[in-house]
Amino acid sequence: MKTVRVATAVAYDVRIGPGLLAGAHEAVRGRSACAVVSDKKVTRLYKSSVGTLADSPWFELEPGEDSKSFATLERVLDFQSRSRLDRRSTLIAFGGGVVGDVGGMAAALYMRGIQYVQVPTTLLAQVDSSVGGKTAVNLAAGKNLAGVFHQPSLVIADTSTLATLSDDEFRSGLGEVIKTALLTGADALALLERDASRIWSRDPSALETVVEMCVRTKAAIVSRDPHEKGPRKLLNLGHTFAHAIEHEAGYGKVPHGVAVGVGLCLALATSQRTQRLADPELPARVDALLAAFGMPRSLAALTGVKLDPARLVSAMSLDKKNAAGKLRLVLPVSAGDAIFDVEVDEPSLLATLRAPHSA
Ligand SMILES: NC(=O)c1ccc[n+]([C@@H]2O[C@H](COP(=O)([O-])OP(=O)(O)OC[C@H]3O[C@@H](n4cnc5c(N)ncnc54)[C@H](O)[C@@H]3O)[C@@H](O)[C@H]2O)c1
Repeated sequence: MKTVRVATAVAYDVRIGPGLLAGAHEAVRGRSACAVVSDKKVTRLYKSSVGTLADSPWFELEPGEDSKSFATLERVLDFQSRSRLDRRSTLIAFGGGVVGDVGGMAAALYMRGIQYVQVPTTLLAQVDSSVGGKTAVNLAAGKNLAGVFHQPSLVIADTSTLATLSDDEFRSGLGEVIKTALLTGADALALLERDASRIWSRDPSALETVVEMCVRTKAAIVSRDPHEKGPRKLLNLGHTFAHAIEHEAGYGKVPHGVAVGVGLCLALATSQRTQRLADPELPARVDALLAAFGMPRSLAALTGVKLDPARLVSAMSLDKKNAAGKLRLVLPVSAGDAIFDVEVDEPSLLATLRAPHSA
C-alpha cells in the first residue's frame, strides 16, 4: 500500500493499493455513527467486500451524471438525518466521481459539515475527484455550478476495484491521468508512454504506480492552494473545453475524462496558435497517448454527438474560471509547465475549434 499525505488545513491521507476495501470499516472506528452513500452498480459489485461497513445504513443513487442534482442531494441529506448521523458521525462516499461529489456536498451541508471518507472505485475518482475536497452538483446552466469545498478525512483507493470498470469508464479516467502527467513533467509522460500497454491491460502494479503519481501531483497542488486562488487552477487543464463539450452534448453523453482528453488536444492547439507552446513535440505525444488508449482526439471523433464550435465557445464563456466576461484558460507550455488565467479572445478560440484537427 502507498500513502500520500494531503497537507490542507486539516491534513489527511490517501491510501492506494489493492485489497483495501476489506479494512475500510477501520476508518469509522470511534465515530458516533456512520452511513454509506453509493450507487446501485457499485453496491451490487462491492457491498459484499466491505466487511462490517455493509451493516451500516446504505443509500444507493442511480448510477450516472443525472444523479449530480439538487434532487439527489436533498435525498442524501434526508438519508443522513434518517440514519441519525450527528456532528461526530462519518459519511462514506463509496463509488465514482458522481457519488463522491454528491456525497461530499451532502456531508458538507449536513449539520453545517460532518466528516466524510472517500472510497473511490473508478480510475477517474482515484486519480482525481476523491482528492482535494471539491464537491458539487450540476445546474441546468452548467456542470458543477453549485458546490462547496469540503476536504475528506481519509481517501481509500482500492485499485483492485478498477478491474470491473468497462473500457469506456477506464478510458474516462485515463483522460485525467494524461492531464496529470502533462502537469507533472517529462518523467510522468515518459512513464505513461513506456507502460501504456500494461496500464491498458490493468496490470495491478502499473495501476498502483499511476494512481500514486496522479495523487502525489494533485496533493502537492491542493496543499499549496486548497481553494483554487492560484496554482490549483492548473488542474483545470483541458476542462473548460471539456465542460463545454459535456454541456453541449448533454450531460452523460460524453464521459468526463473522454471530454478532458479532447480538451487537452484543444488546449495544446490553442497554446500553439497563440504562440505559448515551448515544446512543439507535446501535441504529438499527447495525441499518441490518447490513440494508445483508443480515445478520441478531436471533436469530430466523439461518437454520437455533433458539436457546433460557436455554441461551444458560448458554453465556455459560462465557465466558473472566467472573470469579468473574459475567457480564461489553462494552457500547456511544456511537460511539467502550464500557465493559468490566460485570456484568449473568442475569434482565435473559434479558429482553433474550426481547424481541421479539431473539427
Ligand atoms: N470533485 C472533483 O474534484 C472532480 C474532479 C473530476 C471529476 N469530477 C466529477 O466526477 C464525475 C465523473 O466521475 P466518474 O467518471 O467516476 O463517473 P461515475 O461516478 O458516474 O461512475 C461511472 C460509472 O462507473 C460505475 N462504476 C463505479 N465504480 C465501478 C467499478 N469499480 N466497476 C464497475 N463500474 C463502476 C458507476 O456505477 C457508473 O455507472 C463527473 O461528475 C465529474 O464532474 C469531480
